[in-house]
Amino acid sequence: MSSIPGNSSKEISSDKSLLRAAVGIDDMAVYIPSLYLPLTGEFSRQRDIDPEKLTRGIGVERMAVPDAHEDAATMAAMSLLELMRRCDLQPGDIGKIYLGTESAVDEAKAMGTYVIGMLERVYGSGSFQGCSTVEFKSACIGTTLALESISYWVAAGEDERIGVVIATDVARYPLHSPGEYTQGAGSVSLLVKRDPRIAALEQIYGCFTRDENDFFRPLGCATATVNGKHSNQCYLDAMQGAFASYAAQAAQKGLIAPKRGECTTDWIEHLLFHIPYPRMVEYASAAILRQDWRNSRHWKNVEAEIGVEPEPQNYADLEKYQVDLAGYARSFARSRYFQQAYNAKVKDSAALSRQVGNIYTGSIYLGLASLLELRKVQAKERLCFGAYGSGCSALVFSARAMPGISSVPSRGLFERLERRREISLQEYELLHEGEGKESLNRPSEEFVLARIDHQGYRHYEYVR
Ligand code: COA
Repeated sequence: MSSIPGNSSKEISSDKSLLRAAVGIDDMAVYIPSLYLPLTGEFSRQRDIDPEKLTRGIGVERMAVPDAHEDAATMAAMSLLELMRRCDLQPGDIGKIYLGTESAVDEAKAMGTYVIGMLERVYGSGSFQGCSTVEFKSACIGTTLALESISYWVAAGEDERIGVVIATDVARYPLHSPGEYTQGAGSVSLLVKRDPRIAALEQIYGCFTRDENDFFRPLGCATATVNGKHSNQCYLDAMQGAFASYAAQAAQKGLIAPKRGECTTDWIEHLLFHIPYPRMVEYASAAILRQDWRNSRHWKNVEAEIGVEPEPQNYADLEKYQVDLAGYARSFARSRYFQQAYNAKVKDSAALSRQVGNIYTGSIYLGLASLLELRKVQAKERLCFGAYGSGCSALVFSARAMPGISSVPSRGLFERLERRREISLQEYELLHEGEGKESLNRPSEEFVLARIDHQGYRHYEYVR
């Protein structure tokens, strides 16, 4: 039996569930721009922010910055090209490309059509004409809704071809705003097929949706309006609601069958959450584990360390109850018992995000890439994903690691991030404001936005 709090106390390999859910992620490719801004040094000095706040309080060290020739569409094309090369795919093998983004480059034309246009510069004109594409916009949860949707298409088995889900975004907030140090950029492409090598989806989706103003970008605005602290709370509320729904469905369908004293997370080896910044993942884990452990064997260990949780019936004053409850939540998040579970089940998923920043709808899959690059996931382990999109929605779902997971080659992502070019604060600010017209890195073997014509149509090229 494991000594890690919340870790499975049993062999969780009910192979029945693996057989039932043999559609999922076969491989993935990640594209991150080759420029980055360190958040310590010049940035923290000029913005008058303690670097410790950024590296510890927020959890980021560097943020990826797109070069002048890049946008969300070129990044999507780059990750798709890498996926096709890694997996030796031809255009005719792909039936659908579902693309999640909140960095749309057009109000009507699907970004996937631009992406297909770019890929045809490599694979030949018309080579993707039998492939359909659609853009999913739902803030940072768009890609996950795309994955859910495409997985049912693949499972239906009416078409032998595979599906591709692409996440691509430039996370951009105004200069000098509190969102500024939670920016980033990048794209992830997922290959979705039957008998996947990495992970089979268990096809249980716990959902929570509510109309909120936590984050939005009105038509015509280049940067988002964000009510930062409120967005943290919306994220936590939605995640807790979606997790409760997931847990109830998983129990009802017999996928997860906690015995006396056990709870849902005892049946989960890895918890991956949306990563707007790495500390948010810690807040999310604390909220979910506190909710899940409350009626389980873990709770007596929590109480032994931090005391009894305040209960409303013991308070005449509601405000005092809320203050005490918030204090208890903070003690829980700092407790050794929680931190041990967090380190074992969650922390590693944020490893790449510390070096990249927020990539919005792809960030949860950057979390998966972190685990894969670090070789943290073993066959048969259960991964539980908690996606969040402002506005707001959360979706919690799970997947089981497949026996083929160890055969999938590394992407060398940590090494690739080390080869990026560091830029100055001034270079970053010019690019941010769209005033840096010249590329800082000369494009090579990549897609570029060559020009936008008088009608607003975008012309892309592949530079060899
Ligand atoms: N050293 C170490 N830690 C420090 C510190 C220092 N000098 N100064 C502050 N911190 C810690 C704070 O204590 C806090 O940690 P805690 O929650 O454990 O107490 C953490 O840094 C964050 O600081 P805080 O001042 O609360 O937040 P902020 O004003 O920097 O705003 C966001 C943070 C995320 C709200 C802001 O960056 C934002 O709006 N981002 C965009 C929206 C977003 O990402 N939302 C997330 C949900 S989608």
